[in-house]
Amino acid sequence: MDYEVLLLEIKDGIAIITINRPQALNAINKKVMTELNFFFSSDYKSIEGLKSIIITGAGDKAFVAGADIKEFASLDAAAGSALSKYGQETYMLIENFHAPVIAVVNGFALGGGCELSMACHMRIASRNAKFGQPEVNLGLLPGYGASQRLPQLIGKSKALELLLTADMITAEEAKNIGLVNHVTEDKNEALDIATTILKKISTKGPLAVAKTIKAVNAYYDKSQDGYAVEHQEFGQCIESDDCKEGALAFVEKRRAVFTGK
Ligand code: CAA
Repeated sequence: MDYEVLLLEIKDGIAIITINRPQALNAINKKVMTELNFFFSSDYKSIEGLKSIIITGAGDKAFVAGADIKEFASLDAAAGSALSKYGQETYMLIENFHAPVIAVVNGFALGGGCELSMACHMRIASRNAKFGQPEVNLGLLPGYGASQRLPQLIGKSKALELLLTADMITAEEAKNIGLVNHVTEDKNEALDIATTILKKISTKGPLAVAKTIKAVNAYYDKSQDGYAVEHQEFGQCIESDDCKEGALAFVEKRRAVFTGK
């Protein structure tokens, strides 16, 4: 597919998705959400040898400054609920993606932008990043999952403080409360660190990586018993070719060659 508002670059098996609306601080309009949904639901399959994904924003000023306020201002309750549901579903595709997805946060990550970063498996932020959920300033609550993922990541008290005050926090503060994995001087360094982490993960068994993501996500899913998911996935993993190869490589004192089977 030709994307209109996403840039897609593939480097060494890593797909770098850049949200490209810098004139609107990369705000997520319907087009951005539709293209993200298309990529994570199906189009990723067209990339041969895809191992992992980085999501970032175009320019130096913003990762994503939220959902596009100009687009949703006149929606009624049903349309608003549908917009929120589609955004939630899209972000769940990211959260449940079988391979690691890292957000490289360069500048503002507000509202739906902070929520997008939280749907990713990790967040690397440049020093100029600012995180916040300013929806209450607009007379709204978050619609793309912050009421659920922010408490998961930083605890209920701090999450409610950020959600109810709409305060923006720096990258360093975000790291101190567990929202961000690493803080870097600039976007290039953030991309380097994300790439280093993803390359390290790409040397591990792809099945084991996918099943680890699934089991960790199950902890937060009220409809699942995370321990049950863990032992079922463990059982499937242990009979895989990858696991046999990993154990053999250990015994033979060599590096394992995984096939994802
Ligand atoms: N939607 C639409 N356009 C946006 C936008 C957004 N979320 N954020 C910024 N823009 C646009 C501005 O309207 C402006 O466009 P024009 O030049 O055409 O006027 C352009 O981007 C540059 O922005 P500013 O001039 O405002 O830049 P600034 O440096 O003065 O301020 C900012 C930066 C503090 C991030 C400010 O733009 C801002 O507060 N943006 C809105 C942040 C926000 O409220 N996000 C939450 C949205 S609601 C949401 O996300 C709900 C949900 O969970 C689904």
